[in-house]
Amino acid sequence: MAVTEGYTRQFGHPSSVAVSLAALRQNLAVLKAQISSSTKLLAVVKADAYGHGLVPVAEALVQEGVDGFGVIRLEAALALRQSGITKPILLMRGVADQGYEAAVVHDLLVGVIDLGELAVLERVAAARSRRVGVHLKVDTGMHRLGVPALELFKQLHRIERLKHVDIQGLFSQLANADNLRDPFAMTQQQHFTEVCQAVESHLNKRLIKHLANSDGLFRSPQLHMDMVRPGIALYGYAKRAGDQLHPIMQLKSNIVQIKRVAKGESVGYDRHFIAERPTTLAIVPIGYADGFSRAYAGQCVIVRGNKVPVIGRVCMDLLTLDITDVSEAAVGDEVVLLGRSGKQTVSVFDLARAAGTTHYEVLTSISPRLPRLYHQPAEKQ
Ligand SMILES: Cc1ncc(COP(=O)(O)O)c(C=O)c1O
Repeated sequence: MAVTEGYTRQFGHPSSVAVSLAALRQNLAVLKAQISSSTKLLAVVKADAYGHGLVPVAEALVQEGVDGFGVIRLEAALALRQSGITKPILLMRGVADQGYEAAVVHDLLVGVIDLGELAVLERVAAARSRRVGVHLKVDTGMHRLGVPALELFKQLHRIERLKHVDIQGLFSQLANADNLRDPFAMTQQQHFTEVCQAVESHLNKRLIKHLANSDGLFRSPQLHMDMVRPGIALYGYAKRAGDQLHPIMQLKSNIVQIKRVAKGESVGYDRHFIAERPTTLAIVPIGYADGFSRAYAGQCVIVRGNKVPVIGRVCMDLLTLDITDVSEAAVGDEVVLLGRSGKQTVSVFDLARAAGTTHYEVLTSISPRLPRLYHQPAEKQ
């Protein structure tokens, strides 16, 4: 039979996400060093700043002189405004019906993906005697959102008559900037440049032209244009950045119970794990409802500077570790499930590989129910 060693009396919120704002600032500095001083940097903070927490991340970036923010949801833009951020905010996927009014009132930039929206924006802004800033999204080959060039050219005579819609920018999106063997990013850039020249000359106005995400930023200065839009690189990841960037997130929990099972005993749902030796188990109160996927079973996490495996099934709110080889481990010990601890690291790429997904999905899947704790000191993770 299993022998229980004890459990923490206080469950509280034992799991949390630690975010190093110091590392975030350093990452921003690395990105700024890649671009010319005349190129603007719009920080992409959609999806709750890729799971790191929208407002604290944005506030830290404002202090470091970022030029604006890119979000998807109107709620995110409003949360930034409510927190006192006055920098330009671009709604990169436009707004749904009820959003036009809010965009005008809160001085948000609307990323227009359908030219039909311009007439609505004109009407809403006129009713308030305001002007609304717009960046038009051009489809240069991603073939997702955005207006094809020919359609845009056909509408330019209408666009130039708008009085309350202020066309400030043109943007597009790269389909595979990280693949150096594929010249498609450069083809997109050339096409986008031609479209921009035609639009600027027709409107007789200089616009802010932007195309590059994190991979585009590191791929070639030719892709930088007037502004870059990095997201993932701010949070510590970009293929071509070498070791210049530092992941800013650590996912942490604690051991709440330790027990020993004999050889041959099973652990957890489906009796998926059968002990091949007398095994010491640590029960950790974090699970797939927190964003630690069932697909991460078998991966290692860190206890007292040692890597130990997650065994059996990952449950909704709990998982189990084999800590047999860490004899000094005790109830209450910290467990690092993502990030660095001592000399060990659990990389986001290990988890992504296990789940057959990307590091973007690993980060953005971490549940909002876990508190985000922010660290300012200049330590690197
Ligand atoms: C329009 C747009 N620009 C920029 C980015 C930032 O991309 P990344 O995180 O790869 O830098 C995104 C994110 O998907 C996006 O949707």
